[in-house]
Parts: sequence; structure tokens; C-alpha cells
Amino acid sequence: MSETLLEKLHRVDPDYYDTERVRRIQNQLEHIRKLKQERNAVLLAHNYQRPEIFEVADFTGDSLGLSLQAADVRDADVIVFCGVHFMAETAKVVNPGKKVLLPNLAAGCSLADTATAPAVEDRIRQLKRLYPDLAVVTYVNTTADVKALSDACCTSSNAVSVVRAIESQHILFIPDQNLARHVARHVPEKTVIAWDGYCYVHHQITPDSITAMRREIPGIKILVHPECRDDVLRLADAALSTSGMIEYARASDASDFLAVTECGLSDMLQIQVPEKHFFRACKICRFMKAISLNDVERSLEHLQFEITLSEKVRQGASRALHRMFALTGGQRDNLALPGDVAAE
Ligand code: 13P
Ligand code: SF4
Repeated sequence: MSETLLEKLHRVDPDYYDTERVRRIQNQLEHIRKLKQERNAVLLAHNYQRPEIFEVADFTGDSLGLSLQAADVRDADVIVFCGVHFMAETAKVVNPGKKVLLPNLAAGCSLADTATAPAVEDRIRQLKRLYPDLAVVTYVNTTADVKALSDACCTSSNAVSVVRAIESQHILFIPDQNLARHVARHVPEKTVIAWDGYCYVHHQITPDSITAMRREIPGIKILVHPECRDDVLRLADAALSTSGMIEYARASDASDFLAVTECGLSDMLQIQVPEKHFFRACKICRFMKAISLNDVERSLEHLQFEITLSEKVRQGASRALHRMFALTGGQRDNLALPGDVAAE
């Protein structure tokens, strides 16, 4: 017999998802499914979203998976993007013929906001004087106008492969300094110059709770997002994107895991890999949690909030995203072995 919604959400948080709340959610989900049909819409949701949003998602994934999926939307007229603004922009960049909606405009990203186009242009100009071969690699957590200034984009799941494959010796990596350091460690033959941004969610996670878990639970596998600080990354069995963590947990023989990232991923793991146990060393991202089921409902009812881009910016960002696909073949990083970071 298939699991009920109540059973599933109870696994995530039995106190929050009580019977009454789940009954309300169930009704709302039915209405949203109807609206999706009427609007001929597909709904894409990032792995950090609220568990009830996963229930109406046609696809869930990490930044790479979602951009590939957005590019692949053929028959629908509307893409409702449950994630953050730069991700919805990316969907518009790769599939400009569709109406792309972000259900709540508060879903921004403070990491993306650390790099504005004029500041990036200035930095590129300065650095090109010193390093004429400079290539600019932007993590997808940037606005489309910053992507348009870059030679190639990357995501947390292919950053190492992109930097390794791009022809230049000197790389300006924008905007996450922690991911830049992780890349530099795996591509020592190149000079990686980091922008000084960081993700407030991952940057506040410290090694203490992780070391204690490692001591207390023998055999636990520690999965860390590469936006974490270096002293946290060094404790990891594997540094992975959010979808990489799900794949790792499914394939691993271990039964206990610690997911060191935004808390939504632990919810997702609990739902997708129910036979294993997930501990948390996570923090909540207020941007990722901005979107509620009410917002999704209103978004479909009123077709709000539509993402628009100038064609110049869209084409520039599209070129950088296509370069990423060309450099990696759409594949994820194939780093030495799980445990390569911890083993150093
Ligand atoms: P992923 O691409 O690994 O899902 O990460 C997105 C993100 O915003 C991490 O903070
Ligand atoms: Fe941005 Fe960090 Fe939130 Fe991801 S977790 S959306 S990088 S603020």
C-alpha cells in the first residue's frame, strides 16, 4: 500500500505536520494540481524547498538538474519555479519561449547579490591587465547580467570540471569564496582568484557539531556542500551538490549520514531515502523558504511573478551556460573518490 501524505510528512516533522495541517495541505495540493492543468504549467522545485511543495513538483533537483530540466520543457506554456530568483532567471535564459514564474519575489539570494555587474566589470578590467588570458567563471548563484559577463557558468556539481576544462590558466571565480577554494584544491595547476562573497547559510556552519557526531556515531558518513567553509569541508567524506548528496546516500552501504547544508535537504533525504537515518548539521535559508503553498496557488491563479530579461543579457547568459554544458557534457564532477577531501 502506498504511503499516505501524513505518514510521509510525519517522517520529516511529526510536530509541525499534525493531522489538521496535513488535511489543509492535501486540499490545497488538489487545487494546485487543477490550476497546473488549467494553466498548462510545470513546476520545478529546488531540493531545499518545503516538503509540501515537492508534492506538486514535476521535477526536483539541484541547480544543474533544474536548469537541464527547464531547457527540456516542451509542451507546457508556463514554468513555475520554486527556488530562488537566479534559478528562475536561468530557466528563462535556457527556455525563453516559456512564461517563467517565481511565486514570491522575496526568494532572492544574498550570495548572488554580492556580485553586481558594474563591480564585476571593474574587477575583470583590473585583472585582465595583469593576466591577459583571464577567464571568468560564474557560479550559477549570480544574476543573469553577471553571467552574461562571464566565459562560462558552473554549478556546485560541475565547478571543478568547468575550471579544469576551460583553456585559461588564470580564473576569476565569482561569487563564492568557499567554492572557489574547493575548486582551487582540486585544480592545483591553475590560479583561481576568488570573489569575496559567501553564502550566509553555509558560512555560519562550524566544525564543532560535526566533529562531535563523527566521534559519537561510528561509521557515519558526513556529506558537505562545497559552499561551506574550508575547516568544515575538511571533515567531509564527500563534498557534493544537493542532488549529489541524495545519490550518495542511496548508493552508500552506510546507514547513518550527516547532511551539512540547508535543512531542506535533510527533509528531502528523509522522504527519498526512508530506509536510512539522517542527522542534521543544517541551517535554514530564509530565501529558499520564502515560497509557501499559498504563493504557488496565487502564482498560478494570477500568473505572477513573471521573470523578464533583456535579450542582450539573456543571450550573454545563455552563451555562458551553454559553454558550461559544452565543457562538461552536462555531466557532474567526477572527483577522485568519496572521502578525498577528508583524506587530505
Ligand atoms: P545545489 O546546486 O547544490 O543544489 O546548490 C544550490 C544552492 O543554492 C546552494 O546554496
Ligand atoms: Fe543563496 Fe545560500 Fe540560500 Fe543557496 S542557501 S539560495 S546560496 S543564500
